[in-house]
Amino acid sequence: KKAVLAYSGGLDTSIILKWLVEEYGCEVIAFAADLGQGEELDFIPEKAKKTGASKCFIEDLREEFVRDFVFPMFRANAIYEGRYFLGTSIARPLIAKKQMEIALAEGADAVSHGATGKGNDQVRFELGYYHFDPSIHVIAPWREWDLNSRSALEAYAKKHGIPVPTSKKFPWSSDRNLLHISFEGDILEDPWAEAPEEMYVLSTRPEDAPDQPEFVEIEFKNGDPVAINGEQLSPANLLAKLNELGGKHGIGRIDLMENRYVGMKSRGVYETPGGTILEEAHRGVESITMDREVMHLRDSLIPRYAEMVYNGYWFAPEREALQTLIDDTQKTVNGMARVKLYKGHCRVVGRKSDTDSLFNVEFATFEADEVYNQADAEGFIKLNALRLRIRSMMNKKA
Ligand code: ARG
Ligand code: SIN
Repeated sequence: KKAVLAYSGGLDTSIILKWLVEEYGCEVIAFAADLGQGEELDFIPEKAKKTGASKCFIEDLREEFVRDFVFPMFRANAIYEGRYFLGTSIARPLIAKKQMEIALAEGADAVSHGATGKGNDQVRFELGYYHFDPSIHVIAPWREWDLNSRSALEAYAKKHGIPVPTSKKFPWSSDRNLLHISFEGDILEDPWAEAPEEMYVLSTRPEDAPDQPEFVEIEFKNGDPVAINGEQLSPANLLAKLNELGGKHGIGRIDLMENRYVGMKSRGVYETPGGTILEEAHRGVESITMDREVMHLRDSLIPRYAEMVYNGYWFAPEREALQTLIDDTQKTVNGMARVKLYKGHCRVVGRKSDTDSLFNVEFATFEADEVYNQADAEGFIKLNALRLRIRSMMNKKA
């Protein structure tokens, strides 16, 4: 067997690497993706080889991640259960895709990941794997081994010479990329307990954010952001810039209970500074450029689209079909939003579009019979009231 492992260099995936070699008799190729997690990846190949990998691949996926995954999702304004910006969910399909490319190129017959058997990530990874190769062999060590406690894991690591960080600085589980950082587990498992301030990584405490508001102008083309304050930026650089601005003003902290696909509720805390500003700005430009019925139709589909991404169905016909519709709605979403950032909040305070604005002040001042004849409203209302009048008449008779 030859397996490609999604490897982070951390304790858990190091143990998995070793376990695949020792217990499974696998040749293991390690793969680490740079999705903007802000960690040094240079040491990873050496570490992977020392732990038993035959090869190690590192790929910088930041631009592809934001351009082909984050931006299409933000065209939909996708938010899961009205709260969660799907930062982890949207990264998994891309990691799966790259793993499968490496498996193909290296002639590997298996892939492996470090997600547990209780979560969403296992589903997202594996639906991706099967999309690219219906007969791929999937190895999910967390569902197979008996290393089911922290102490068993650490004992296994010690036995095999894998360095265990002596004092785990952060007891909670987290996942970071250019869109967000997530926190779960440990003290957060008490849904009543507020997350400690030292947990936060990307954002200033709103109370400590600058006392002066800051304004940012974001330009959109076909529903995607292309420039900030007049400066054209690549997708990854643009999101990084918004994270910096949002983080400075304490924007994008979320604390929620979410429903996992596998059926349980789970406490999650997230920081999505740039994504929060982006959604607000995108809404701003849509509000002046998008047809009412198109917008309402699209909005009605947001929960469905978000569910597809959350549950791992990125590479699925229903998501692709919805994406086609959503991308079509974005053809007119060209223009600029001006957003005010202040102590944990961001708010559109100005919006404009030179090419696609549907708002025209002059409609209000036109000659009465040219575009809008007030007298027309009488029949409009009367016919729409017909059902209500009939119902009222029936009620009175009864
Ligand atoms: N609950 C979130 C989600 O399902 C975050 C998962 C974080 N994953 C992790 N391996 N730490 O998308
Ligand atoms: C995990 O269980 O591996 C992380 C949490 C999740 O996937 O929902």
